[in-house]
Amino acid sequence: MVKSPPPCVSSLSILHLFLFSLANCDNPSVNYLIDCGSSNPTQLKDGRTFKSDRDTTSLLNTTEDLQISLDSINANPPPFIPSSSLPLFQTARVFQDESTYSFHISKTGPLWIRLYFFPLPHPSYNLTSAVFSVQTSRFVLLHHFSLRNNDSLVFKEYLINVSDSRLSLKFIPKKKSLAFINAIEIVSAPETLVSDSATGVSPPGEFKGLLNSALQVSYRVNVGGPTIDPESDTLSRTWEPDGPYNVFPQGSETSQVSNKSIKYPRSGVVTPLIAPNLVYATAVHMIDPGVMEPKFNLSWMMNVENSYSYLIRLHFCDIVSKSLNQLYLNVYINGIEGVSGLDLSSETKALATAFYKDFVLSDSDITNGSILVQVGPTKIQRDKANAILNGIEVMKISNNADSLDGFFSVDGKYRGPFSTPKGLKIAAFVGLALALASLLLLAFICIRWRKRPQGWEKHNRFSSWLLPFHPNHNTKLFQGKNTTRRKKLNSHHKSKHGHTGSPRGPERFFPFSELQHATNNFDETKVIGVGGFGKVYLGKLENGKKVAIKRGTSGSEQGINEFRTELNMLSKLRHRHLVSLMGFCDENSEMVLVYEYMAHGPFRSHLYGFDLPPLSWQKRLEICIGAARGLHYLHTGAAQSITHRDVKTTNILLDDNYVSKVSDFGLSKAVPEKAQVSTAVKGSFGYLDPEYYRTQQLTQKSDVYSFGVVLIEVLCARPVISPTLPSEEVNLADWAMKQHRRGVLHKVIDPRIVDTISSTSLKVFVQIAEKCIADCGVDRPSMGDVLWHLEYALHLHEAGSQIGAHEDKSSNMIPGQFDNVADHLGSNSSDASDSTEVGSTVFSQIANFQGR
Ligand SMILES: *[C@@H]1O[C@H](CO)[C@@H](O)[C@H](O)[C@H]1NC(C)=O
Ligand SMILES: *[C@@H]1O[C@H](CO)[C@@H](O)[C@H](O)[C@H]1NC(C)=O
Ligand SMILES: *[C@@H]1O[C@H](CO)[C@@H](O)[C@H](O)[C@H]1NC(C)=O
Ligand SMILES: *[C@@H]1O[C@H](CO)[C@@H](O)[C@H](O)[C@H]1NC(C)=O
Ligand SMILES: *[C@@H]1O[C@H](CO)[C@@H](O)[C@H](O)[C@H]1NC(C)=O
Ligand SMILES: *[C@@H]1O[C@H](CO)[C@@H](O)[C@H](O)[C@H]1NC(C)=O
Ligand SMILES: *[C@@H]1O[C@H](CO)[C@@H](O)[C@H](O)[C@H]1NC(C)=O
Repeated sequence: MVKSPPPCVSSLSILHLFLFSLANCDNPSVNYLIDCGSSNPTQLKDGRTFKSDRDTTSLLNTTEDLQISLDSINANPPPFIPSSSLPLFQTARVFQDESTYSFHISKTGPLWIRLYFFPLPHPSYNLTSAVFSVQTSRFVLLHHFSLRNNDSLVFKEYLINVSDSRLSLKFIPKKKSLAFINAIEIVSAPETLVSDSATGVSPPGEFKGLLNSALQVSYRVNVGGPTIDPESDTLSRTWEPDGPYNVFPQGSETSQVSNKSIKYPRSGVVTPLIAPNLVYATAVHMIDPGVMEPKFNLSWMMNVENSYSYLIRLHFCDIVSKSLNQLYLNVYINGIEGVSGLDLSSETKALATAFYKDFVLSDSDITNGSILVQVGPTKIQRDKANAILNGIEVMKISNNADSLDGFFSVDGKYRGPFSTPKGLKIAAFVGLALALASLLLLAFICIRWRKRPQGWEKHNRFSSWLLPFHPNHNTKLFQGKNTTRRKKLNSHHKSKHGHTGSPRGPERFFPFSELQHATNNFDETKVIGVGGFGKVYLGKLENGKKVAIKRGTSGSEQGINEFRTELNMLSKLRHRHLVSLMGFCDENSEMVLVYEYMAHGPFRSHLYGFDLPPLSWQKRLEICIGAARGLHYLHTGAAQSITHRDVKTTNILLDDNYVSKVSDFGLSKAVPEKAQVSTAVKGSFGYLDPEYYRTQQLTQKSDVYSFGVVLIEVLCARPVISPTLPSEEVNLADWAMKQHRRGVLHKVIDPRIVDTISSTSLKVFVQIAEKCIADCGVDRPSMGDVLWHLEYALHLHEAGSQIGAHEDKSSNMIPGQFDNVADHLGSNSSDASDSTEVGSTVFSQIANFQGR
């Protein structure tokens, strides 16, 4: 049914054909060009002919037959859409139901998929309201995509490695909506175009797995030169000029030589298929200021999407040097050194010879939606300092969900924003081991609070945040991995459960086979997070309940210790704001913990880095309050006071109602209140209490410090350590407090919400955050105190509009009361329920006072 067009379509330029056959000498290439909705074939000025809709209906499985066309289009194509392709936008095919093109792939390997969209006006179909997804059998290319703007031409270009003899392209309209497409290209790309590995910028080292991912072209830039149209490119690509991206044009100068003089190396690693000689024949180099050595980088910035990794290909060709070995380059991507002292002469053995280098920048190093490519001179340059760049290509790499748009895979399953892309370990910043640990822990997933026991309210009428404590639990569960003990324990659990109907349901023992079943035998695609101890999987129990399953890597001493600690701690602790354990498995030297699934993942993902909608100030306060309650309970509510030791936004998880829970007790330690315990320093870089670090004395105030850092992070929505920023700004807590003292705190507050925070609420919030990060532990408030201030800040925010007029009055009158309460809370904190009671009473008094 599917006709494979002959490889030699007459309309292809001779050059194109010649070069094409260079790459695919003995295999016919795949070449489907379809002008959807068109009744006649369309020949473009670049020489290619797109088949009409009629000629291609055999490729399409759809239930309807809707075509839309327009005589002419008066839209201005953006620079990366060649003007020659305008006729393709004049017609479209519209789908009201799921419809599939299927292509016969005569030659497996890399393929270009190019899609053209333009929402043509039509009396009965409103294409600007169409919302749809486009996917192949494995990759999601577009998810709930729409073109709100009725005069925008959209062009999407993908490169995927097809290993099947069939490629399907599915258009799926959202319910009650439409899908449409103006033109499709499915064209073989040369095998040599992208190799499986590239230089990892972060984490440094070799990145592997490109061929197993789908790529989407984000930018293809001819640095220092004009637009290159498909007709001048061997693979019908379009290259745009670099002007809009050059962020330091004052320091740049362009160079140009005739394209005839460009050589490709004999080795065949770089061919005209990689990039046409026109790309290598133009370059930007450093301006010669005519004074001493210039010391700067050439810099280009491009906007990209956070939470994807990118392949960055830089093209070099030394068309500026007079002799060999004069040019030594440093390349930085987002401020991280990609390569230092790159010597083009030794790579190419000749001048004016094409060379390129691939880099992969991982999602964790793209925090503000941009990629900054910098090329600068090294110190060893013989003559005068110089640096050049000829071309930049930026391609998005499909994520864990095999998607290039969102986090849903082709089966519609959500593969959370906090999972690690395959083969990509989340990067360490500045090579610090502690930092590494902190980022690896980024992906913790835990459980929702189990069902509230009956009668619970009665027992705990004072406390909205304390749950009964069970001190009698076996805290030596894993010691010696004693199976009989475990069985005993387990049967003890069962009988206890049976007799008393104890609703607090002790954690259950899970047979390993059940967990294997729940995770499809620990299938890699179920991984939702990676920690120092091993991986976290999303599992589904037989009853359909989703759980997070943390499986320890056997053999790691650290892992075993953290496991024991976590199990010991969690089996003793029950609290609405602490993640709780559903069960465990210690069969066959496996160490597995089972938690309920926390649907919204780590708090941090909602603050920055993942393009999730910003949380309102109120929501942020509520989440902080929840976490503070959890910590307050840890510090004071349990029979044994516990210090968490790893408080940070990745360890605060959100359930499906955005209720926050503190997780990860792997480093926790019982520390008697107001006592110090001498211990090796553990924790996460950026959140670590400096006093603890200096003295190695752990106190509860170390958690308070970390929580203070969390509060500032919540306010500013940026990482607590950003090594790429100017040194003054690297440490968020220091920087924010500095700005606060300068009276310009607003400059660092999350710009998305800065205007919505009432000033009184902010004042209280910042005041308590600042106290938390006081240098000396004794100067820091207790968690109860922090909790109270946060509640107060929330109250002020909610009352914001009413009290706006009395702002001065309230901020004058409250602190006195407030401090007393805080003191009261602090001194009573050994009795958590009481302090809670007092807190709420006084709080409500103040609330009333405010109301008046
Ligand atoms: C076309 O799609 C329908 C429904 O999706 C399916 O039942 C049918 O088998 C498909 N036909 C072909 C030729 O693929
Ligand atoms: C089409 O839909 C868009 C978005 O829903 C709407 O803004 C626009 O007014 C609609 N246009 C027509 C002609 O109905
Ligand atoms: C887009 O919509 C606006 C107003 O809805 C209309 O004036 C304009 O002509 C439309 N443009 C196109 C290309 O349809
Ligand atoms: C990608 O392509 C290479 C070479 O063409 C092939 O060996 C590999 O199996 C392909 N991988 C996938 C996942 O298609
Ligand atoms: C140089 O570029 C022009 C297009 O600008 C092209 O026609 C010509 O064939 C190229 N020369 C070589 C040697 O590739
Ligand atoms: C170029 O940029 C990098 C990273 O941003 C920086 O470390 C380096 O000092 C810069 N080089 C020059 C010469 O300014
Ligand atoms: C990203 O950060 C750089 C400086 O670190 C800044 O110049 C740039 O404007 C930022 N980009 C965006 C999109 O905020």
